[in-house]
Amino acid sequence: MGKNKLERFAENDTFRHVVQPDLIEAREHDNEIKGTWNRWMFENNNPIVVELGCGKGEYTVALARENRNVNYIGVDIKGARIWRGARTVAEENLKNVAFLRTRIEFILRYFGKNEIDEIWITFPDPQLKTRRAKNRLTHSEFLNRYQQFLKPNAVVHLKTDSLFMHRYSKMVLMHNGIDILEASEDIYVNPEIDPILTIKTTYEKMFMSKGFPITYLKFRMKPNIKFTEPEYDNNELLQICLRDCPADTER
Ligand SMILES: C[S@@+](CC[C@H](N)C(=O)[O-])C[C@H]1O[C@@H](n2cnc3c(N)ncnc32)[C@H](O)[C@@H]1O
Repeated sequence: MGKNKLERFAENDTFRHVVQPDLIEAREHDNEIKGTWNRWMFENNNPIVVELGCGKGEYTVALARENRNVNYIGVDIKGARIWRGARTVAEENLKNVAFLRTRIEFILRYFGKNEIDEIWITFPDPQLKTRRAKNRLTHSEFLNRYQQFLKPNAVVHLKTDSLFMHRYSKMVLMHNGIDILEASEDIYVNPEIDPILTIKTTYEKMFMSKGFPITYLKFRMKPNIKFTEPEYDNNELLQICLRDCPADTER
């Protein structure tokens, strides 16, 4: 029988590769792991890739299996989900994976300047409601946070089933003069799709089964810019980004 939530939380505590800080403490102080992931967690100087909102860590684990000389950190607030990935890492004895349980809003408490090489954002909630717009993981306030721990010119990947999220993110990037390296509103129509994009998470499988196209955006961060939002209110953004795709609002 599968483990219940409390058993998963308890097992997470036994894994050296799961960092579960005190969430109240994180609001006030930097965590001691900040700036020391390579030295303390991975014991090497390999590049570090972070997956934000990793859920069960499927992308993190799949990428880590393929690239043993790269370190991966899956970040999510839900400990029971992280447990699934952490358990697989323990079973397969993968040395290049760690998980961090935190709200991404507090990410600067855990990662230091230039500590991270790349970000994956996989199937984030598009947060369609106006009052939740700031929770979008590509909102300018999040991009400003990412910039503070990413190496200059680092690459960010966004894979999502939400055409709104894809188009909104593109607008934010273009508004801020960011180089978009790749953009697709339906990755599986490309017969030469990069195998890295064919890793399927729990949410991807679920959304594909409902007929949503899977989109992808890849962009390069620019050092020293202060990201701002495009000058539209949320209703205008919804109208622009949801043109020809009302299905997004029915999720
Ligand atoms: C729709 S799920 C996608 C999970 C996984 N990436 C997948 O594709 O299966 C979004 C995930 O992001 C996490 N998440 C959303 N907002 C977050 C935040 N602000 N901080 C930490 N985790 C967050 C949720 O807990 C959830 O596991």
